[in-house]
Amino acid sequence: MRFYVIFLCTIIKLLIPSESLNFKPNIVIFLADDLGYGDVGVFGNNTVRTPNIDALASDGIKLTHHLAAASVCTPSRAALLTGRLPIRTGMFPDGRIVVNVFAANGVGLPTSEVTLAEIAKTADYKTALVGKWHLGLNKDYRGDMAFHPRNRGFDFYYGHILTNMKDWSNEGDRVLLSQRPNFYKEIGAVFCVGLLSLIFLVKVGLIGRGLCILLFLVMISPMVYLVFVFNNMARLNGLLYRDFELVEQPIHLETLSYRYTQESIKFLKERERDNHPFLMVVSWDHVHTALKTLKKFRGKSQHGRYGDAIEEMDSGIGDIMNALDKFGFGRNTMIYFTSDNGAHLEETGINGQSDGGSNAPFRGGKAHPAVDGGIRVPTVIRFPGVLPRGKVIEEPTQQMDMFSTIVRLIGGKVPKDRTIDGKDILPLLQFKENKSPHEFMFHYCGPHLQAVRYRPDKGKSVWKLVSELPDYKPGEDKCYGLACSCSTIIKQDPPLLYDLTSDPGERNPITYKSNPSLQKIVDKMTVAISEHKKTVGTPESRMTFFKLLWRPWFQPCCNFPSCSCSDSVYKDFVDS
Ligand SMILES: *[C@@H]1O[C@H](CO)[C@@H](O)[C@H](O)[C@H]1NC(C)=O
Repeated sequence: MRFYVIFLCTIIKLLIPSESLNFKPNIVIFLADDLGYGDVGVFGNNTVRTPNIDALASDGIKLTHHLAAASVCTPSRAALLTGRLPIRTGMFPDGRIVVNVFAANGVGLPTSEVTLAEIAKTADYKTALVGKWHLGLNKDYRGDMAFHPRNRGFDFYYGHILTNMKDWSNEGDRVLLSQRPNFYKEIGAVFCVGLLSLIFLVKVGLIGRGLCILLFLVMISPMVYLVFVFNNMARLNGLLYRDFELVEQPIHLETLSYRYTQESIKFLKERERDNHPFLMVVSWDHVHTALKTLKKFRGKSQHGRYGDAIEEMDSGIGDIMNALDKFGFGRNTMIYFTSDNGAHLEETGINGQSDGGSNAPFRGGKAHPAVDGGIRVPTVIRFPGVLPRGKVIEEPTQQMDMFSTIVRLIGGKVPKDRTIDGKDILPLLQFKENKSPHEFMFHYCGPHLQAVRYRPDKGKSVWKLVSELPDYKPGEDKCYGLACSCSTIIKQDPPLLYDLTSDPGERNPITYKSNPSLQKIVDKMTVAISEHKKTVGTPESRMTFFKLLWRPWFQPCCNFPSCSCSDSVYKDFVDS
């Protein structure tokens, strides 16, 4: 009898992948914006000071092969919150614009998707998002707030509804002008040609005055639209919300990170007398341009305003960690620190100085998903008592895995009616497994599958097969203009094979044509691609050029018609 009981217990133990926790852990996610792998001390940077992120690593696990699902913000964030590749949710760009560039356009994470925060709420969690959202605001009309974080599972929201842009640096930088430097000349030329033609048509008697005026209006309205948008990005998109209320427009960037830290600490303090566990996502605007910090960080780093922004973010993380300890959450809280994509190498300020970071030792950066610099992100996880301290995991993992892992940790349910690309990596994090649960991982640029990663059962190698590369400037790992696009790419035929374990910088593609064992690896990856494609079908992009355009009737505005206000909670704060 006893034998049978023990036997049964063993069987049950084997069936349950690893024991669940006997308590509901709190979860804190720190998400940086455009922070590169090489921008963090513990990932090899010896000149930027990130003592607080480094401490998370020495108290927890450093993941050296952790991948974002996309190399740009909107798709990457959608994937982290849903556990699904952007190609499945429609949150992938299909056109020249690769991220959501307007708050007022009706583009957002579909309400049919289930977010991590929504699941946490069903598992009795209190949830908060502090910081950048970038997954939509209104859906059908101004004020419906269908995509607002408060309607996507977050009980509390304080933050920037879209994304930081260099337009509000007050130094004359313009995102759109950096894409089309001759914009005003082009507009001027079109205007002159149009006007002269109209005058000519009237003179020769082909059209009358009335028609001429009508045609003139038709001609100038798109011009007025474009010039207006080009010059008002800060006011159109610099929107700070506290819950559903628009409290600041345009955003004062200098104090923004400071305020994110304060709001996070306030949320933690409120949890002290609360019986619910919590999920808090702190989504920094750093280190996206414009790089504005409090005075006490300005000019203090060795790397200009970019380094200042990293150091301010790190200091905010330190303050929040101290608050966690102070309120007694230090031990039962899992901390996950990561970045939404690689550093933006093409980003330059108005004076030509680089405003982008380092993805060393990987090749390429933001908006280059085919190479690891775009998607391999500095990541650490700390969970005292549950995860070991000071360890490194080199196995390939991805942000979407954290969706599944966290859902499991908090006792939620992973949706069963759809494909989830993330996998529970708790056994790997606890060193109960030593292999990635993924045999294959797929890397997209918009709708194009550009690369596949293969982690075989045996051996050390991680292989990558690349069928499209960005259209780099000769001799550089940078594209022309502000960013690489998914429509100007260089097809690789035959596809390039890399052994990432010996060649992480993807410098030496391996010739496999006359090598049967390598050819077998390539064949396996090719089969995996076609199997994967069958699960994806022909998805429709929610981020086409036209869907992303600014729609005036969606535009939020505080104190109409000035569209100008400041968060009164911080009106007495002096930045000294
Ligand atoms: C450290 O980060 C700065 C800022 O991105 C960068 O300029 C520098 O090259 C990095 N150093 C290393 C060793 O990667």
